[in-house]
Amino acid sequence: MGILDGKVVLITGTGGGMGRVASLIFAREGARVVGCDIQVDASRQTAELVRSAGGEMTSIAPVDLTDPREVRQLVEDAVAAYGGLDVVYNNAASLRFGAMPGFSVEDWRATVIGELDIPFFVSKFAWPHLVRRGGGVIINVASMAGMIAGENPPMVGHTAANAGVIGMTRQLALEGAPHGIRAVAISPGPVLTPASDRDLGDDQAARDAITSKTLLKRFAQPEEVVELAAFLASDRAAYITGANYAVDGGASAW
Ligand SMILES: NC(=O)c1ccc[n+]([C@@H]2O[C@H](COP(=O)([O-])OP(=O)(O)OC[C@H]3O[C@@H](n4cnc5c(N)ncnc54)[C@H](O)[C@@H]3O)[C@@H](O)[C@H]2O)c1
Repeated sequence: MGILDGKVVLITGTGGGMGRVASLIFAREGARVVGCDIQVDASRQTAELVRSAGGEMTSIAPVDLTDPREVRQLVEDAVAAYGGLDVVYNNAASLRFGAMPGFSVEDWRATVIGELDIPFFVSKFAWPHLVRRGGGVIINVASMAGMIAGENPPMVGHTAANAGVIGMTRQLALEGAPHGIRAVAISPGPVLTPASDRDLGDDQAARDAITSKTLLKRFAQPEEVVELAAFLASDRAAYITGANYAVDGGASAW
């Protein structure tokens, strides 16, 4: 018995680090997973990994989640895949870093679209299906940057967009409660994914600069974020809504 037995879960960004791990963990807990990504091969590989581990997953790709028409179609296809929708895991994001005043208007807009439009679009089009189902859960992956400023690297667009994600989550919780919809945010600190590990390479100074703000002086593993998401998506978390959970090694505690 898994804690997500029988639930249909739409996970965005399943070609990437945490989205791939989320697909594996949600499926391990009994969910039927619909994944999506702009990257076709990577998302398909995730679905193959899930199936070879004995889980159930459908990958829909390519989908550009910044395009509301594509998101509307994605949600319709996701609902059709397993006959409904119970959980939306808004994991996908794209962003740009940069310092003031050089962070351009284009950088700003790309970050707000990549971090705030995407979870809004997916939530908006999934909402009527969750209502029809009698309720469900929306989990938004934000960031500790939505709670505190970040020095390494400079991140004005990222802080603003993720504060927006946390605020939007509270509002979704308020408007969703009468329909049985819970909405919860998770705010990770630095997470070591295959992509970030590869990018950092053997640059120990860069790794130390990033982890120095955490109390634990290390990166999180993707599993340390996703195990919480699986719990929050389950009926065991039935009294949790409107909250934002930091999974940041204590970075926002000081
Ligand atoms: N890695 C970290 O240190 C960290 C820290 C805090 C928060 N987060 C958040 O966690 C989430 C997952 O992070 P990750 O490190 O696994 O990211 P990632 O970049 O490895 O994966 C994101 C996935 O989303 C997909 N994606 C991006 N834009 C898309 C679009 N327009 N349409 C379709 N797919 C798109 C990418 O192709 C990729 O597969 C993100 O929301 C990120 O902001 C990450």
